[in-house]
Amino acid sequence: MPTETDRLNANKLDYQEVLRDVARMMVRLKRPDRLLKIITRFIDRQFGLTHTSLLVLDPRKKRYVFVNSKGSKRLPVSLVKFDVDHPMVQWFSGFKQKQPFQKEFLFLSDVKKMLSRAEYRLASNSKADQLAGIQKAMQTLKAELIVPGYFKDTLVGVLMLGRRVNGRCFTKQEVTFFQTLAHDCSMAVKTAEYNQSLVEQNQELARRLEEIERMRSKEQKTYYEIMRSLAEEVHAKEPNIFGHVSEVERLGLMTAREMGIDLSGKTKDLLSAALILHDVGKIGIPDSVLSKPGRLTPEEWKIMKTHVEKGARILEPLTDFKKVREIILSHHERFDGSGYPRGLKGDQISIEARIISVVDSFHAIVSSRCYREGRSLDFAIHEIRNCAGTQFDPVVVDAFLRALKKELQKKGEIPRSLLEYAAG
Ligand SMILES: [Fe+2]
Repeated sequence: MPTETDRLNANKLDYQEVLRDVARMMVRLKRPDRLLKIITRFIDRQFGLTHTSLLVLDPRKKRYVFVNSKGSKRLPVSLVKFDVDHPMVQWFSGFKQKQPFQKEFLFLSDVKKMLSRAEYRLASNSKADQLAGIQKAMQTLKAELIVPGYFKDTLVGVLMLGRRVNGRCFTKQEVTFFQTLAHDCSMAVKTAEYNQSLVEQNQELARRLEEIERMRSKEQKTYYEIMRSLAEEVHAKEPNIFGHVSEVERLGLMTAREMGIDLSGKTKDLLSAALILHDVGKIGIPDSVLSKPGRLTPEEWKIMKTHVEKGARILEPLTDFKKVREIILSHHERFDGSGYPRGLKGDQISIEARIISVVDSFHAIVSSRCYREGRSLDFAIHEIRNCAGTQFDPVVVDAFLRALKKELQKKGEIPRSLLEYAAG
């Protein structure tokens, strides 16, 4: 037959195991309400109480609510709420401030004894009132023992335990076990609150970043639209070259496609933007130079050439289009290195800028200007071919002419120069 000591030792081991399990669950379970339910269920099953419930601080509502209740006389948890000035809350909150006459847990029998002691009544009316309030609450809730749980100095919860169904009293060891459980529950609740607040802060941060990104993107789009209008405005001063921007865009994309450049997603957006905006800097060139009928003087050419740097500068706010600025800055570089503004050559010039150079020149040749009629397709094609390897990248010229040939073939309008063209 096991002795009473054996039984207690056996129980002690069980308790330690339970506490270890609780600690493990605290780490694993993200929602503390699940842990609290497991604990109340365990107490109910292990100790055979009339009921077990947990009162937990809801920091948002600043009051204590029951999160779970188990046992034959379980409480209607949703109906019981304690405000922070409830005598029980006040009592246990005051305990941490080391006030006299207070204990780390309360049996209903102790509350009754304290209330009957004359010195207690005389020592502090407010304490006696608190005890009376606690007694009333414990009797109403059929609680035999209440055990507080703290996190730092904050009362996080109160474990409320009914009578044992078999009539036995709680041992000192059991009360210590309940105190440890109450402490663990408080830790779990506070840790979960902390984690939840981190999650909420992160969600809020993500929402704000998304909003900033949305606004930034909207601003960029608006700026781009303004730039596009400006680019069209540049050529609007030359009425006969109507549609130059759109046509250069179309021919440029057509050439890129012919070269096998992948135009899905952002690549196409960047190339389109560069084709559309390449001459936007001309908005900063005086009309007397820009729209001058006839040849420009060397001084006027100097001014005209600044449009590439002006264009790159105008586009600085378009942070998504950094590459477009570089392309625009290079669209008058020549394949042989004799262009401007930096004298880049060959592969030093981005492929987009090399494409713009060809299609922009081609369309300028075939378009009428205020000082001359547009040249024929044959003339333009000869000019482009003649400049392959010097002004233009021959690979780009080849792709452009192949694409042009295919396009004109569909229309049945192939000029002699393209019929002679071997490629494609
Ligand atoms: Fe230009």
